[in-house]
Amino acid sequence: MNYDIESKKREFIELLRSTGREGIDDLLDYLDEGHNHFFTAPASVNHHLNHDGGLLEHSLNACHAGLKLREMVIAMRPDLEPQLGRDSVIIATLLHDICKADIYKPAIKKRKDAMGLWVDVPSYDVDYSSFPMGHGEKSAIMALWGGLDITQEELIAIRWHMTAWDVSFQSVEAMKSLNTARDLHPLCSLVQLADGIAANLLERE
Ligand SMILES: [Fe+2]
Ligand SMILES: [Fe+2]
Repeated sequence: MNYDIESKKREFIELLRSTGREGIDDLLDYLDEGHNHFFTAPASVNHHLNHDGGLLEHSLNACHAGLKLREMVIAMRPDLEPQLGRDSVIIATLLHDICKADIYKPAIKKRKDAMGLWVDVPSYDVDYSSFPMGHGEKSAIMALWGGLDITQEELIAIRWHMTAWDVSFQSVEAMKSLNTARDLHPLCSLVQLADGIAANLLERE
């Protein structure tokens, strides 16, 4: 593990611990044991942050964006402050993509170089077999399994962080749940926005 990952891992742990929430040490062990390798996993194979530690970096980017968004929204709508707790923003943004901790396996792949010659390059295979449970819902379940004392509102924000991209359009109940979640919980919209800012702006190449 290189220095950069170590420093980002420390920041991730400090942010989580700053919430004072019960179960953080258990969750940290869970994210880094068995099939899970959250701290060294990439964020993707072919898109943003497709390198060791990329998932950790994306999670921190979403958290930084979420905390800034929280300040901005509260300045403009002070009445929303009780529903946008700092601790909830940290927990929901840092943990929104923990579902990816067990799906990427290091692999060597053949690619053509600038001269058109096939060369071996380090990459990843994607394997959903350890816990094929979807995306947002899988992250929510993993946070619970990891032993974190997490609120219903935080679970809902994690579940729906992908907005309608993570919904079967044949499912009326899923669409109604998503819309209800956004109506009831400002945290839900804030986490969706923070994830989009991280992936589409902060991690833009
Ligand atoms: Fe996601
Ligand atoms: Fe994300």
